[in-house]
Amino acid sequence: MNTISSSLITGTFDTDTCPVPSPEEDPLWYRHAVFYEVLLGSFADSNGDAIGDFKGLESRLDYLAWLGIDCLWLPPFYPSPLQDGGYDVADYMGVDPQYGTMDDFTDLVEAAHERGIRIIIDMVLNHTSDQHPWFQASRSDPQGPYGDFYVWRDTPDDYPDARIIFIDTEKSNWSYDKQRGQYFWHRFFSHQPDLNFDNPSVREAVKNVVRYWCRTGVDGFRLDAIPYLFEENGTNCENLSPTHDFIAELRAMVDDEFPGTLMVAEANQPPREVVDYFGTDARPECHICFHFPIMPRLFAALREESGQGMRQILAELPPLPTGAQWGTFLRNHDELTLEMVTDEERAKMYQWYAPESRMRANIGIRRRLAPLLNGSRRKIELAHALLLALPGSPFLYYGDEIGMGDNIWLKDRDGVRTPMQWDPSPSAGFSTADPKDFRLPLIDAPNWDQRAVNVQESMGRETSLLNWLREALHIRRRYPAFGSGHMNLLSTSNDAVMAFLRRDAQHTILCVYNLAGTPRCVDVTLPGMAGWTSRELAHNSPFPTVKDDDTMQITLTRHGFFWIELLAPDY
Ligand code: NOJ
Ligand code: CA
Repeated sequence: MNTISSSLITGTFDTDTCPVPSPEEDPLWYRHAVFYEVLLGSFADSNGDAIGDFKGLESRLDYLAWLGIDCLWLPPFYPSPLQDGGYDVADYMGVDPQYGTMDDFTDLVEAAHERGIRIIIDMVLNHTSDQHPWFQASRSDPQGPYGDFYVWRDTPDDYPDARIIFIDTEKSNWSYDKQRGQYFWHRFFSHQPDLNFDNPSVREAVKNVVRYWCRTGVDGFRLDAIPYLFEENGTNCENLSPTHDFIAELRAMVDDEFPGTLMVAEANQPPREVVDYFGTDARPECHICFHFPIMPRLFAALREESGQGMRQILAELPPLPTGAQWGTFLRNHDELTLEMVTDEERAKMYQWYAPESRMRANIGIRRRLAPLLNGSRRKIELAHALLLALPGSPFLYYGDEIGMGDNIWLKDRDGVRTPMQWDPSPSAGFSTADPKDFRLPLIDAPNWDQRAVNVQESMGRETSLLNWLREALHIRRRYPAFGSGHMNLLSTSNDAVMAFLRRDAQHTILCVYNLAGTPRCVDVTLPGMAGWTSRELAHNSPFPTVKDDDTMQITLTRHGFFWIELLAPDY
């Protein structure tokens, strides 16, 4: 276990990182990467204005390298009125001065690369802020060059079958603009008009935005809200073929002009529809799709004490095209979305995880990981152990590595976006400003108080969640099978115990999880593996040999799990 001194959070870490290799040297890097979402404004403030910034994040890169992070995902930091956390972009080609300058950004990319950490940024193509000059021009000059950049109609009657996504605030996907005297289309907030992708000039303009950011040295993009680019009457306006055509065109463009640039799809859709965003071998779209189908089922499994829901999803998914990878996650800056589960599943999830109405937002739950799991260390570890071993590349959310709490009294999804807790000082080491000036308050609820839950304390305590997670990430890094190996679901003698193999040419790893709150002793069936020996990965302990009837008996504590390497008899 690492005993690095807590005073080194911003200092020099004893890590074995080396600079990021080129895409040619490591084209499939994203299949072995661990991603980490960092909300810039809430992570680290370098200049005392109470707002996190590029320089602040740069000063924490050594911590992230120490933890074992391979790639950062930065949500939007473009100039924005910030009515939707920056997803309301007012200028695609700039950085909001509150986060620093463009030079600060490119310095950050360079400093991250030196430490072996890549950076992907959010690309919000579906909509802009109503403050964007394109929209201002569109509403004031319908005949001008931007007149047709948005979706305008005289009446709000088109596309009646498109659902409303932000049901807490929006009554319609159409809003009336007095200045232009017409209605405009928006899938999200009414201050976020959708761009008109039917217009070739819009498509060219957003491609130029992507080109611009590729030139800054970023390693790729998380493509926000891509199912909604095109609209068509008689459909629900999601996942339409022109939308896929455009994503494929964008991929072809970056492959051609900026080879190796990663595209990650935020497509909150049912299993069959999500996989379409990978495209095909002949016509690829995104390298990674967020695994929206499995995420809520993982939380349900912990309450149902059964892996059935997860198994069903895993069995339902078709094989992926070459190089495609899931992006697995437990939490992020949004609500834990329940849009794609059945009404019955949703009702149960609310009952289990959001008993108070203020824990809910839109169709989902606005809580952080640790409070969702009642602070149960065993459940938090189990959830991470699944996250790190299920097929896909894990996306962690800042603060979850220390078990940060949330604040359900804040508006919208701000309760899961509060400042990172670095140390027990009054400002939590986030800023030198007075905490009363912070945009969002520090967490101070009993049991979750920033004075107790912080990076410094966690680093200094050998048994902390942070040190446990770091160890788990380092084990995962040693076994590429976790990232790109095949997965085989296994049968076990008890429904509460889920087991699967992750396997590549070098390693065969048995991952076994007790989803129940009581111990289990089970037989796991390992077809054709009689005589294989085994050892548990975290402690290198010898485990049983697979019996002649192809089973292995394993005893697990409540919410216990093991990652076990299986070795062929002639090994
Ligand atoms: C998806 C983003 O993750 C979310 O935060 C945002 O509110 C919507 N897109 C709309 O922009
Ligand atoms: Ca600042």
